[in-house]
Amino acid sequence: MIQRLLPISFLTIFLLGLSTSTSAQDTKVEVQIDSILSQLSTEEKIALCHAQSKFSSAGVPGIGIPELWLTDGPHGIREEISWDSWAPAAWTNDSITAFPALTCLAASFDPNLAYEYGRALGEEARYRNKDVLLGPGVNIYRSPLNGRNFEYLGEDPYLASCLAVPYIQGVQSMGVAACVKHFALNNQEKWREHIDVQISDRALHEIYLPAFKAAVQEAEVWSLMGAYNQFRGQHCCHNKTLLIDILKEDWRFDGVVISDWGGTHNTLQAVYHGLDLEMGTWTNGLTSSKANAYDSYFLASPFLEKIKLGEIDEEELNKKARRILRLMMRTSLAPNRPRGKMNNPEHLALAQEVAESGIVLLKNQNQFFPLDTNSDIKIAVIGENAIRSMTQGGGSSALKAKIEISPLTGLIEAFPNAEISFSMGYASGPPVYGKVIASPYDADSLVADALRKAKEADIVLFIGGLNKNHHQDCEGGDRLSFDLPFGQSELIDKITALNPQTAVILISGNAVAMPWLNKVPALVQAWYLGSQSGPALANILSGKVNPSGKLPFSFPKKLRDNAAHSFGAISYPGDSLEQHYLEDILIGYRWHDTKNIPALFPFGFGLSYTQFALSNFKSSTEYAKGELQLIVKCEVRNIGQFNGQEVVQLYVGKANSAVERAQKELKGFQKVNLKAGETKNLVFKIPLNSLMYYDEKSSAWTLEEGPYQIYLGQSSVIKEAQLSIELQNS
Ligand code: BGC
Repeated sequence: MIQRLLPISFLTIFLLGLSTSTSAQDTKVEVQIDSILSQLSTEEKIALCHAQSKFSSAGVPGIGIPELWLTDGPHGIREEISWDSWAPAAWTNDSITAFPALTCLAASFDPNLAYEYGRALGEEARYRNKDVLLGPGVNIYRSPLNGRNFEYLGEDPYLASCLAVPYIQGVQSMGVAACVKHFALNNQEKWREHIDVQISDRALHEIYLPAFKAAVQEAEVWSLMGAYNQFRGQHCCHNKTLLIDILKEDWRFDGVVISDWGGTHNTLQAVYHGLDLEMGTWTNGLTSSKANAYDSYFLASPFLEKIKLGEIDEEELNKKARRILRLMMRTSLAPNRPRGKMNNPEHLALAQEVAESGIVLLKNQNQFFPLDTNSDIKIAVIGENAIRSMTQGGGSSALKAKIEISPLTGLIEAFPNAEISFSMGYASGPPVYGKVIASPYDADSLVADALRKAKEADIVLFIGGLNKNHHQDCEGGDRLSFDLPFGQSELIDKITALNPQTAVILISGNAVAMPWLNKVPALVQAWYLGSQSGPALANILSGKVNPSGKLPFSFPKKLRDNAAHSFGAISYPGDSLEQHYLEDILIGYRWHDTKNIPALFPFGFGLSYTQFALSNFKSSTEYAKGELQLIVKCEVRNIGQFNGQEVVQLYVGKANSAVERAQKELKGFQKVNLKAGETKNLVFKIPLNSLMYYDEKSSAWTLEEGPYQIYLGQSSVIKEAQLSIELQNS
């Protein structure tokens, strides 16, 4: 254990806010914006501030200001939707590359891939003539029942920030605005339109806001979407604390705040509390419907009337129009905007690479995997997810993929000599938004067929999990149970009784109960993998690609072991009006570690076909660009037989703190490629401001003196800190 003394008085330098200096280029753009603004009538400026169709807002045709076209997001460019209904527009040129869901990107722990992912999405958005891509989603994984977790980046604010920033930079490098969503605290779908979240300032700032803050301050995101829910009694799409005090004043966001679709409820709040562009479903918030009602939007005629009556100063409108024009100057009006590309082989290859990098090997007894591609064994593939399209359903992230190769097809191609049989084993209905439709199949016959095939086979690959139906991994509702749906756990029990050589592959965006875990020798967590699902999964199972994904959220043994659920209904899902985040800062692994409630599979965990060893830990401090940094070094060695990649994770803890702290928190990670036998030296540079806590009394970030513990490891389960560092007031 190494100790160093640091004078804490030096540490204030980097606590100062963002620089306010504007470049000459920015000044020129601002002058142009003012000039355009001066040519617009009040009515034309109002038209900029609200939708004219489901996914566009008006431009000013007479002076060449283009319409603004937005698109979902976040895993691919959504198909064209009708002007004034949610029905597909039935175009034939809008099939795209489906990238893996964001949970998979998070599991890759690879910021470089996140940049490439964002850039490829930006290219597809450009080709489809879109100006704003509605993503990434960075809401923190709080409950495994949340229907939209698959669209987000996991339970850790640092991990989510590290991936959201390059994703946004990639999208925006193409002259397309990213729109980080849903700001903030939209951590469940149940009652999402109105649930009022009560949370401490500390948990808000330490857990739920950092990824948004990084999007604004590090990635300089050009737009942000408000959330549907309420925070302390005000809807988030016009919440003064969130949008004015924090986002626009503290963080100096200069982009456009866009409402979630139908998330606006009040003209005065929308005007004064930071909303710039109202998008929507219907007129009265989310509820009542009237065709082509765009002029009745809260930021349309009601706003105009109040200006005309002198009740609202026109400068309020100018502020919004100025932001919207700035967004256009960055996108549709930008000179030299790059050309887009769509469905090119590079995008497909990237989709596959992300999928392969994110798949997590959770259990592998007796080297069940990798499977030899030349082998002539009999494989029974069982489970609906082996053949089901996972790009459809799920709500607004649904995609019309040009190519989607199923796991079964991928396996048949990868194992040409094997005798592969398939049986669904269970069946769910089609994905219909907001409804559960029963499957037409007879459940008993499906089970009987699956058991017959399982018994005849040498090995079984059970490919199940959740899907994109209502009450599964789908927007607009939460899961109703932690258990696997459609009788899968019972089916796995029956299959393993007949054929113990059964591996389970779960396709989901959420943790599930695994009562059968001890009966299966191998388990793989695959996510919604997009266009190249089949080849990616087959490459992992065959060992052509060595798995390197790590869980971006904890899998609890039972629901009650999850922090949010351990406090009962008032914590999740709330009493229908309010909910209280009683676990406070202790979310995910912070809870499991600190309360000593072991997870079934911890955050950051994932196996490889090889093994790695860490050694030679050292720490020191260094100044870089006026910031004092903690420098941590270690060696990582591939001690197994295969080449592979490992994610070395660095956590820092502060025992004996003035405030309650998690035992440790992720502060750095590196994904390294190592040939068998190879060793690499790693250097982590941790800015000391990332060790601060949010002090509720002073509403400021505070760095404590005294010892800090440094943990290096291959998951969040690391028993002892290897290093300690002492910060001391000089
Ligand atoms: C979702 C957003 C989405 C929007 C447009 C809303 O219901 O919450 O994430 O971008 O619809 O489809």
